Amino acid sequence: MADRATADLLARMTLAQKVGQMAQLAIPGDELPDETLDAIRAGRVGSFLNTRSLEQRNRLQRIAVEESPLGIPLIFGRDVIHGFKTIFPIPLAQAATFHPQLVEEAAATAAREAREAGVDWAFAPMVDIARDPRWGRIAEGFGEDPRLAGEMGAAVVRGFQGDGDVLGPGRVAACAKHFAGYGAVEAGREYNTTWIPEQLLREIHLVPFKACVDAGVFTVMSAFSDLNGVPATGNERLLRGILKAEWGFSGFVVSDWAAVTELVQHGLAGDEARAAVQAVRAGLDMEMASRAFADHLERLVEDGIVPLGVVDGAVWRILTIKRRVGLFERPYVEPPPSRCASAAGYGELTLARQLARESVVLLKNDDRVLPVRPDVRSIAVVGPLADDAREQLGCWAYDGDAGASVTALSALRERCGSGIALHHEKGLADCRSDDRHGFDAAVAAALRSDLVLAFVGEGGNLTGEARSRAFLDLPGAQNELLSCLAQTGRPLVTVFMAGRPLIVGRACELSRAAVYAWHGGTMAGPAIADVLFGDLSPCGKLPVSFPRTVGQVPIYYSGKNTGRPARGGARGIPPGTPLDPVGFESTYLDVDVTPEYPFGFGLSYTEFQYGDLRVTPARARDGEPVRAAFRVTNVGDVSGVEVAQLYVRDRVASVTRPLRELKRFARVALEAKASAVVEFTLAPADIAFVGNDMRATIEPGVFDVFVGGDSRATLAAVFELSQA
Ligand code: GLC
Repeated sequence: MADRATADLLARMTLAQKVGQMAQLAIPGDELPDETLDAIRAGRVGSFLNTRSLEQRNRLQRIAVEESPLGIPLIFGRDVIHGFKTIFPIPLAQAATFHPQLVEEAAATAAREAREAGVDWAFAPMVDIARDPRWGRIAEGFGEDPRLAGEMGAAVVRGFQGDGDVLGPGRVAACAKHFAGYGAVEAGREYNTTWIPEQLLREIHLVPFKACVDAGVFTVMSAFSDLNGVPATGNERLLRGILKAEWGFSGFVVSDWAAVTELVQHGLAGDEARAAVQAVRAGLDMEMASRAFADHLERLVEDGIVPLGVVDGAVWRILTIKRRVGLFERPYVEPPPSRCASAAGYGELTLARQLARESVVLLKNDDRVLPVRPDVRSIAVVGPLADDAREQLGCWAYDGDAGASVTALSALRERCGSGIALHHEKGLADCRSDDRHGFDAAVAAALRSDLVLAFVGEGGNLTGEARSRAFLDLPGAQNELLSCLAQTGRPLVTVFMAGRPLIVGRACELSRAAVYAWHGGTMAGPAIADVLFGDLSPCGKLPVSFPRTVGQVPIYYSGKNTGRPARGGARGIPPGTPLDPVGFESTYLDVDVTPEYPFGFGLSYTEFQYGDLRVTPARARDGEPVRAAFRVTNVGDVSGVEVAQLYVRDRVASVTRPLRELKRFARVALEAKASAVVEFTLAPADIAFVGNDMRATIEPGVFDVFVGGDSRATLAAVFELSQA
């Protein structure tokens, strides 16, 4: 029925109206110019992004539905990246939970809040694989690993869209972005060129997008970036070839902001008309914010330069998604119930707190200084990020209600009450300040306290789009502040709040304990307090490798052996040491080759041990599943959740393979002294790789299986895959 209705509608549309559906306009403010309203009336606008209010949204929709010739409803898009009113932890932090089900719940909450506000379409999940923390948008994605990013991206798609072909109430269309390879911008410099060999593109960068397409994502957004000489937005091999033909993607592709006209700046098109030709032929269906389609596509079709069928194909996809969003049946959004639209409800805040709790990664905990001991009677709360309601929300939180944020200081005050004295001093005006005048007061507060909690890192405004940084150190004088605090001799616990891996080696050396709390969103404060006081054992695991220095970047766990592997990696060569001990191996003269903290790493207040790994069959025929079973035991005195991880290595193949690749993970909750057997089944697709013919390839040979609590897992077993 839907297709018949779409076909009938398409047949009645003029070329101008078809081109109109392919235009998404940005809302300039509360009022729109008459020419825009006239364009809606003429059926020459398909979508808006960033409407200012539900009232404005319904007002524009009423013009489209009741005053235009065919009454085709508009679709309204918005960046709902990690929450709408309720701001959840940034996606990189959500990835650290390794908890797709909870991420899905958060996305469903965001969808409900957004739809109530008149948003039909969220420009998320962002599933760009990033291995370069200099790139500010690493905060928006799910880290360095394609499997983890794919599971998280698919969870967001399910949370946004629900299941089934047509959106139910409180759901929004999702948008997998930025297709593709944007996370590989050279030197981590925003909007820079990407050179990605097709095997790497397919084996790493495309994997999470395919997971989103397999999860039924309604839309995909093309990237700004130049991919191997052809910018993604004009890249036919990518859009029509891989996304639509090879994967069978049936939704529509929207460009990123003005990415069509930017094809001129790229040098792919001589003018905007040719940019329109390049993009629409490549398979782009809707143009965001710029007007190359609106200004030129009609004439290009009339002149026979762009086949009408290409336009019809794009409009068919757009109309189909509008129908699946339910816009033809329910074009208007009723105002939400009387609940205050400015803040989240209790349920959402509880979920936000739980997701933030599970995202916290414990990096070190010398002498079990955490959880805070019962005999602690006074705490110094220091640092520029202890009480910043806006910065803790992170990037892409424009609809967030900073007034609803609960900061760490507020949460600590509530928790400590009159029982524990709190002495709060910022020490620095903000995280980028070099002004040390506040240090004395901070040191004095530390000297009056049994414990020092320092909240440092980077503000949300230093992360996200157009926020590349060439240095990854703690900005400003934060390391110096930590040094002064450490010199007081009081136990120093450092809480990092950031949107990317920072260089934390020095700060961790100064600290007895350290946790990475990312930008935890509305409920960051209570979540951090919950972990610091032991309401739960920290269970977060790093979704991205932490470099010792920016000179190691790009750095990631799934590297290859090379022909001269570093033997454990010399931790630098002390000054004056004769150089001849340095072997001819893949290492550096001045820093260890290993990361400061590896992918998958995270400590707990308890300890987990792995044992009894059995992989069967030891000799598998091609196509036969392989089972791995192992025991995880909580050998400590408190309960905890362990993210058990399974990695595989294909020792010899026609394309060199990574030393490890994450293939499975599972969260295992264990009471003290309890244990559980974890079983994973590896399907043939799990050991396939992209061969030199660009096809999924499985070759016989010997495979290592590693299981453990991070990517350095040492418990290993071997299985052999024999020729069928
Ligand atoms: C931005 C971002 C993209 C976002 C879009 C609309 O430039 O690149 O992720 O969805 O424009 O705001």
